[in-house]
Amino acid sequence: MKKIAVYTSGGDAPGMNAAVRAVVRTAINNQVEIVGIMRGYAGMIENDFIELNSRSVSNIIQRGGTILKTARSKAFMTSEGRAKAFENLKQQGIEGLICIGGNGSFTGAKVLYEEFGIPCIGAPGTIDNDLYGTDFTIGFDTAVNTAVEAIDKIRDTADSHDRVFFIEVMGRHSGYIALAAGVAGGAESILIPESQEDWHMMNDLFFGEKRSKKAFSIVVVAEGEEHGGAMQIVEQLKQKHPDFDARVTILGHIQRGGVPTAYDRVLASRLGNAAVEALLRGEKNKMAGIKNNMVVLTDFDDAIFKTKHLNPDLMRLVHVFNC
Ligand code: F6P
Repeated sequence: MKKIAVYTSGGDAPGMNAAVRAVVRTAINNQVEIVGIMRGYAGMIENDFIELNSRSVSNIIQRGGTILKTARSKAFMTSEGRAKAFENLKQQGIEGLICIGGNGSFTGAKVLYEEFGIPCIGAPGTIDNDLYGTDFTIGFDTAVNTAVEAIDKIRDTADSHDRVFFIEVMGRHSGYIALAAGVAGGAESILIPESQEDWHMMNDLFFGEKRSKKAFSIVVVAEGEEHGGAMQIVEQLKQKHPDFDARVTILGHIQRGGVPTAYDRVLASRLGNAAVEALLRGEKNKMAGIKNNMVVLTDFDDAIFKTKHLNPDLMRLVHVFNC
């Protein structure tokens, strides 16, 4: 391969810049020309490409966001949009792609390969950590640390006022952030989309016969939890138990920004490097991930469609410590 392109796609994640840097410098180290595609599939369709060299990625390893920008492209979901994208890639002489993103982004890359034969290797960039084939995704560790910092602050005021706080963290379909931030933040209860059991335990905690004697409590809620998020949960509880007093904090997009942790920078550097080396070896339609601290490749089909299960041991810890 003489020329490849890199893009970031879907929700941004801290560490994406470190991954772009790793991709660019690995390509250059292998005497391969590299260009950037701005705003993911949107830029692919709109012919928004930029030249990249070693200096274009100087001083970005510590920056949150993505210098290549990102988008969720509706046009790419149409066959006309994809045909335009392929035409632009062909015109640029691009022979392979590196996609930094999540599930939806890899689905786009897979379809592009099936329709036009352009090979792609993915690096998992999403705070949600919900991709099969990797123990951690780029951005997850930073997002969890951001959430824990916020939980620690809320603990102070919860303690002062003897209050219950429901803190909502991101995770549309998964409870990874909630579980990790909840355990690290000492939450009494964690509500996640993957478990129904936790809902009953939370109710027991506040309203059961053996209700908690604790003066204040922290409940961490994943945004994708089936009752509709922290606000709705507290409203429902108040309707049933009018004396119940609780505050809600929604952390939201604060979790998507900020300086990536050292862990995310190292992970991004390893996976960005591995993705390019795999592409140059002739691999395609695969994601470079980390398992047991080793870099591994997983077929897009598995990364996209298989479910990565939460660590049951972490959930167990919440119950053990809640006494
Ligand atoms: O996929 C990452 C994520 O941050 C989810 O946790 C969240 O539900 C979603 O993106 C929010 O997306 P947007 O920024 O497009 O509203």
